[in-house]
Amino acid sequence: MAEFNLPQNSRLTEGKAWPKPAGAKKVTEFKIYRWNPDDTANPRTDTYYVDRDDCGPMVLDALIWIKNKVDPTLTFRRSCREGICGSCAMNMDGKNGLACTTGIDECGGKGKVAIYPLPHMPVVKDLVPDLTRFYAQHASIEPWLKTTTPAPEKEWKQAKDDREKLDGLYECILCACCSTSCPSYWWNGDRYLGPAALLQAYRWLIDSRDEATGERLDDLEDPFRLYRCHTIMNCANACPKGLNPAKAIAEVKKMMVARQV
Ligand code: SF4
Ligand code: SF4
Ligand code: FES
Repeated sequence: MAEFNLPQNSRLTEGKAWPKPAGAKKVTEFKIYRWNPDDTANPRTDTYYVDRDDCGPMVLDALIWIKNKVDPTLTFRRSCREGICGSCAMNMDGKNGLACTTGIDECGGKGKVAIYPLPHMPVVKDLVPDLTRFYAQHASIEPWLKTTTPAPEKEWKQAKDDREKLDGLYECILCACCSTSCPSYWWNGDRYLGPAALLQAYRWLIDSRDEATGERLDDLEDPFRLYRCHTIMNCANACPKGLNPAKAIAEVKKMMVARQV
């Protein structure tokens, strides 16, 4: 078995090794997690060989190449191919990221790449995680402008300085790379909101136009929803958009303290 740096899974078995592309000069080996809910087999890893002279440079290019040319049953999500939709998030050589913005050479240093679904989430099929709970947690922070004063005739105005406070927050594409790399979320994901939802919570807490700050903080004042963050910082390392959810969480905690003094 090839030496991949992978999380151990005692039920995971070595699956099929597909043939190498005939005549290819530059080949990269991909070991990919497979699981099909429609059969009773255990999860396995299948091995594919990609002809790099016939394939684009990104991991998503390789997955599409495999699906089109080798194995049409390989299942994964993708849409924009531009790092915008967040749907191609997966674990590549042990690191969460977007397959469309991660170069094959960037993660396959030894000519081999291991690909798994985002960690610690239920799997729908192959590389597709079930994000139902993740989206419900995002919905629970009520990610919309909440006001009590009558709506202005044209628009809610915001000073330039106040608008800049949203930088580093509004760019979140809800890919779940951060939450699924967070150990606290792994162990308490049913009660801890996780870095993505908390970054979004902070985005609304500091929006100068929002008038529900107290209510939002009340909702987070809970031993699990907010305070399970132990500042391990995996989230900031994982974010493919360069955001820092741990910092946002620390700011929320500061707001909690500030309103008590
Ligand atoms: S800093 Fe907090 S949210 Fe980020 S990985 Fe660590 S525990 Fe999770
Ligand atoms: S903070 Fe970054 S890693 Fe987390 S969901 Fe948003 S874009 Fe993805
Ligand atoms: S396909 Fe949209 S972020 Fe990768």
